[in-house]
Amino acid sequence: MKRALITGITGQDGLYLAELLAAKGYEIFGLIRGQDNPKYDLVRATVPGITLLKSDLTDISSLVRALNRAQPHEVYNLGAISFVPYSWENPVLTTDVTAKGVMNLLEAIRMWAGNDLSRVRFYQASSSEMFGEVREVPQNESTLLWPRSPYGVAKVFGHHLTINYRESYGLHASSGILFNHESPRRGPEFVTRKVTQAVARIALGQQKLLTLGNLEARRDWGFAGDFVQAMWLMLQQDEAQDFVVATGVAHSVRDLLDVAFDEVGIDDWESHVRQDDRYLRPAEVHHLIGDARKARDTLGWQPTVTFDELIRMMVQADLKEQRVLSLV
Ligand code: GDD
Repeated sequence: MKRALITGITGQDGLYLAELLAAKGYEIFGLIRGQDNPKYDLVRATVPGITLLKSDLTDISSLVRALNRAQPHEVYNLGAISFVPYSWENPVLTTDVTAKGVMNLLEAIRMWAGNDLSRVRFYQASSSEMFGEVREVPQNESTLLWPRSPYGVAKVFGHHLTINYRESYGLHASSGILFNHESPRRGPEFVTRKVTQAVARIALGQQKLLTLGNLEARRDWGFAGDFVQAMWLMLQQDEAQDFVVATGVAHSVRDLLDVAFDEVGIDDWESHVRQDDRYLRPAEVHHLIGDARKARDTLGWQPTVTFDELIRMMVQADLKEQRVLSLV
């Protein structure tokens, strides 16, 4: 039986990946942070049989202990401080977790695996946010990185470190440069879920206004359930490499509003939406769109859920959730 260790198990991607690996018969170990993590029960309920180990990306000794316990064949580093605006408020913590955390985990792997690094494969969750002020359109694996946030800078460090450990030590280490990926499990601070949750509440008469930042920003939004497939496929290849994972189609926040409000039968959404400079970022990433040809050709990966289907799925899930919440 294959064993996988996942950091960031409590997040959207951690849960989808754990479900995928469980269906493939893996024994799964998830690293969970903090004394009384409120997501403990959610993870146990979503992935029955998972072993949760108390560990923290900022504490290398806890990582070595977790590796010793799990003896993993595959390590997926999904743990990070992932909300971009937060990274301007807490840049040092973001760097400690999102950048230095990768160093801690890779060094912990070397300490645990000793001379036999071939016993383990490593996946690093890199991000399209690394492209920032984009140098070419669409972005591929060799596009110059130009991050625009402390988060993006931290991800660049993790990305290059992953490549460096592959080149220095021969570790099977792959970096997935994932464009925005969403689902009903997305945190409500991210724009897709913020919109779909508010649209559901507006449709049910529980909320009147939705306040947003930059409506012109464009993103290549895909479905998280599709994207975790690509992570797994990367670690099944003979050769470790880096891959862009994206749908190749970009939409604006306005397009997102069009689809989400349409799903509840509202077409004059302008009266429900306010733009507030409070939500603008010190440096914006205006337009991301990925070229995932390498993932398609090498991994045989392609997305199965369109932007339209994704947003409608999220609105429906939020309607259901809000109806349940209104009963309690
Ligand atoms: N969050 C948020 N809230 N974003 C808003 C809002 C708002 O009220 N209004 C407009 N936006 C715009 C942001 O300015 C940004 O351009 C875009 O919507 C997407 O914002 P997020 O959903 O917060 O995602 P992100 O692109 O910053 O980052 C996500 O994707 C990255 C991959 O490119 C995160 O998941 C990162 O962790 C991930 O690496």
